[in-house]
Amino acid sequence: MGLTPTKSYDDLLADGIEALTAKGAGELDAYVSGLNELGVQSPRGARWTAAMLTDELLRLSAGEGVSARAPLHPVVGRPFTAASASSEDLLRGGLLDLWYLVASANDVTDRPIGLKRLGRNLVLWRDAAGAVRALEDYCPHRGAPLSLGRIIEGNVSCAYHGFEIDAAGTIVAVPATPDCPLVGQAAVRVYPVREIAGAIYVYFSDKLGITPPEPSLPEELTSPEWSSFLFTTEWKCNWQVALDNRVDPLHGSFLHSGTFTLGYGRQDSELKVEPAPHGFSTVRNNQRGVNIDWHEVEFRPGNILWVRTEIPYPASAGGGSFRINGHPTPIDDDTTFVWFYRSRKISGWRRDMWRFLYLNRLEARAQTVVEQDRVLLEAISLEARNREKLAQSDIAVGRMRRLLREEADRQIA
Ligand code: FES
Ligand SMILES: [Fe+2]
Repeated sequence: MGLTPTKSYDDLLADGIEALTAKGAGELDAYVSGLNELGVQSPRGARWTAAMLTDELLRLSAGEGVSARAPLHPVVGRPFTAASASSEDLLRGGLLDLWYLVASANDVTDRPIGLKRLGRNLVLWRDAAGAVRALEDYCPHRGAPLSLGRIIEGNVSCAYHGFEIDAAGTIVAVPATPDCPLVGQAAVRVYPVREIAGAIYVYFSDKLGITPPEPSLPEELTSPEWSSFLFTTEWKCNWQVALDNRVDPLHGSFLHSGTFTLGYGRQDSELKVEPAPHGFSTVRNNQRGVNIDWHEVEFRPGNILWVRTEIPYPASAGGGSFRINGHPTPIDDDTTFVWFYRSRKISGWRRDMWRFLYLNRLEARAQTVVEQDRVLLEAISLEARNREKLAQSDIAVGRMRRLLREEADRQIA
């Protein structure tokens, strides 16, 4: 007979908190006395006190700020991208003149990393001051990926013959050829890059030398009243297929029925689309706060796209809701970097308790839902759009596509 694994201290504490929440505990005192009654062990074996519990929740919650924990899939390869001939081409590969989230902040270190986004190969690294830099992943000497090189004094040094390129894309050293006239030439494309809210954002544009506007972020990421985690993964589908899913509230009642968060509510609704300052919001006519019942699209051409969704927690988990903010970033025609923030407007010990439970178990539970999306969406080809029969429940999908199409037409013109 095998050994029975013993539950960790963290798991036992999370079990206790969940059991007490399901029984209706809402205030700190109820958790403190409940944990003592349940016999959940405290850090030093003494009876739980309010101060002890809040200290523990803070310690186990990973503190403030956005954290993300997903391994990235580095890519090195040939960087050339064919110019888009039509709006469809452009949309397939990704709209330009926008900021895109390309990685979580902890994926970029002082070693160069190669990433493909919007069909373009990038190399990113941190300089000596910790600032993130982004260039085309292409050595101007003979085309080796710079991401195979290393960082020397904040510049990227190509692995092949040691050309050194600075963050402005200028050749600053050709070690094999002293006095080489190439030194001083701006030779590599620079991508505007920002590190915000636990993530790396890159601006994609075919206009050279432009200074983009600063990325416009939603309140959930800028206000200290909100607390967030960033989730990232990759799917094998076109980004537009994944984006359709982000503006399709009713799929929650079918694809995700039977899951922890989305097994509730009606399966029949009329969707209502209402204009919002930079896009539109979508609601069900007969339900709010039960399943996926509300979302909002914020599209600022030239700046950024956000899709915001509200997901309720079941009453047994304490009720309330969390927000999902994000949209898929194209990698290439058939691969998508899927990312979103999960955020709650919550403060004090309740924030720490949520963050602790998120890290200990809620993220893994939510993963069941995300996995259902992945399996289904990877099985839908972009060409399915040529044979669709859309229903009233697709009204937001249609609106989203029209917004993007209008911008693509404008960019191609
Ligand atoms: S290809 Fe990069 S130094 Fe030669
Ligand atoms: Fe879904």
